[in-house]
Amino acid sequence: MIGGGLMGSGIVEVNARAGIDVTLVEVSPEAVKAAEARVTSSLDRALGRGKLSQEDYDSTLERIRFTDDLEQLADRQLVVEAASEREDIKLDLFRRLGQILTDDQAILASNTSSIPIVKLGAVSGRADRVMGVHFFNPAPVMKLVELIPSLTSSPETLERMRGYVTDGLGKDPIEATDRAGFVVNSLLVPYLLSAIRMYEAGYASAADIDQGMVLGCGHPMGPLALSDLIGLDTVRAIGISMYDEFKEPLYSPPPLLDRMVDAGLLGKKSGHGFYPYG
Ligand code: NAI
Repeated sequence: MIGGGLMGSGIVEVNARAGIDVTLVEVSPEAVKAAEARVTSSLDRALGRGKLSQEDYDSTLERIRFTDDLEQLADRQLVVEAASEREDIKLDLFRRLGQILTDDQAILASNTSSIPIVKLGAVSGRADRVMGVHFFNPAPVMKLVELIPSLTSSPETLERMRGYVTDGLGKDPIEATDRAGFVVNSLLVPYLLSAIRMYEAGYASAADIDQGMVLGCGHPMGPLALSDLIGLDTVRAIGISMYDEFKEPLYSPPPLLDRMVDAGLLGKKSGHGFYPYG
């Protein structure tokens, strides 16, 4: 696993709870500590709620190694990358991983929401064994995983990943083509950006926009609360990638979202977004 932020820490937990031995790589010793704290506090909550026995808690943690050294992934059969949604970072990681992995059959998968998988494959030197595997937040709870083979992924890679997601993790996959946004974000992100535009234009308060969609449409949470949960930097990055690809104005992030990200108001993970947290 690469990246132990919101998604990486959850995906690591899913794997370790499924009995899979995982190594999580972060950028620095501080980031490693933060990732470890995220994984542990999620497991603590599961233990506290009786969803995990003490024995399973201990064995889950024993299956995870934390490190800031990418070379530790050399012997892995599968690497799932969930580093920040930045093309430069991901291209650099896939270039390096292509050289580091010793198992010729190893698969490199990205949890990216919008960066073309084919580009990550091209720099890795093993394009047929690279594809997208897109988990949903929070990964330990959400059953859906999007599988995204690129133009260059082999059918065998897709089938191995399908087996990993279904038999290995007990999740339900859908397949999407390598287009920014895949299935779910193509529908979701324009909706979230429209809600932000509506709030920016002063149509209604954040609480009323959210309540409208919760009580009027039966959604479990409103679009502004959901944007805070996803991370406003991530919502913005996905909108930009989708706009770059399709030039559809609805995909372009509104100025308020740009300003909030510039101000470090990233939503739940930074303690403040459209709402304050903790
Ligand atoms: P995040 O900002 O919470 O975490 C990203 C982590 O990557 C940080 O901890 C950062 O230190 C680490 N990182 C950055 N460069 C790295 C490097 N070179 N090596 C190792 N670690 C590195 O972001 P989040 O939300 O976890 O997103 C990660 C990926 O998952 C992105 O590609 C995003 O598009 C995707 N994603 C996000 C979802 C969401 O709801 N937030 C849902 C599904 C996918």
